[in-house]
Amino acid sequence: MLRLDKFLCDANIGSRSQVKAFLKKKAVKVNGEIIDKPEFKVKEGQDKVTFQGKEVEYHKYVYYMLNKPKGVVSATKDNLCETVTDLLKDSGYDDLFPVGRLDKDTEGLLIMTNDGELAHRLLSPKKHVDKVYYVELDNALTEEGRRLLEAGIDIGEEKPTLPAKAERITETSLYLTLREGKYHQVKRMLKAVGCQVAYLKRIAMGGISLDESLPSGGYRELTKEERKRILL
Ligand code: URA
Repeated sequence: MLRLDKFLCDANIGSRSQVKAFLKKKAVKVNGEIIDKPEFKVKEGQDKVTFQGKEVEYHKYVYYMLNKPKGVVSATKDNLCETVTDLLKDSGYDDLFPVGRLDKDTEGLLIMTNDGELAHRLLSPKKHVDKVYYVELDNALTEEGRRLLEAGIDIGEEKPTLPAKAERITETSLYLTLREGKYHQVKRMLKAVGCQVAYLKRIAMGGISLDESLPSGGYRELTKEERKRILL
């Protein structure tokens, strides 16, 4: 059970104060009865809550995809730099955090949520969730280098990297698919084969592809389909 105002906020009806105003205006019914008390207790999944005549679908957790721009840090707070959480201020949620990190100069897909369990599951080293990166290089990647990236390579960790997929697009660009997420992994793997990363963008993670219609810094909620894919 949870408070009606919290239920409505979680369902994205509005901020806490907007929700209070809606309740005052008698725009909310629970099981057919007008309820105007924010503290009224709702049994989520059982009680039928309507707002302005429409049934409210309850989501305890929310899931967004963000097209992270360069220059923004993957943190919830930073004293100096803009953070990915700052970019989602208008979502109405103040408890969102990124699932994993992208370097400050890396762009692309970052999943933002308030579901700590999901973050834990997607980032667990045992899970081997695929992450796909588009990489541009300052110098050419040789076929031998490409094969080493795929086979697993020493980047100064206890063990070599797990087998990966490296598809060259041109001599100086490639798609790299990793099943783990060590610190600066893409840059370190490429350095180990004599290449310097000039541009890095994550284009997919856990079966979810970056929506190319999202501008840099733009975000949207994951669709039902996408949610299913990562919540499995
Ligand atoms: N690997 C990197 O080197 N940087 C990132 O941001 C992500 C993966």
